[in-house]
Amino acid sequence: PRGQQGCGRSSKVNLKVLKSNAKVVDTIDVEDISEKAVLCRCWRSKNWPYCDGSHNDHNKETGDNVGPLIVKKDK
Ligand code: FES
Repeated sequence: PRGQQGCGRSSKVNLKVLKSNAKVVDTIDVEDISEKAVLCRCWRSKNWPYCDGSHNDHNKETGDNVGPLIVKKDK
């Protein structure tokens, strides 16, 4: 399908986050978000599940274009 070229089925997205878990699942309570939460979508953050800016190096190294999910809270 369009937009999915080069998607190798054997390549892993997650290289080092909680690898001993069968599946990485995170829950964040909305009440715990003060203003906004910036959540990692590149799987390279050292502050998982939050974005620490590691996507910038990943994008530079690989030519990828990934970035975080920003959840904002209404005031
Ligand atoms: Fe992964 Fe920013 S570090 S999206």
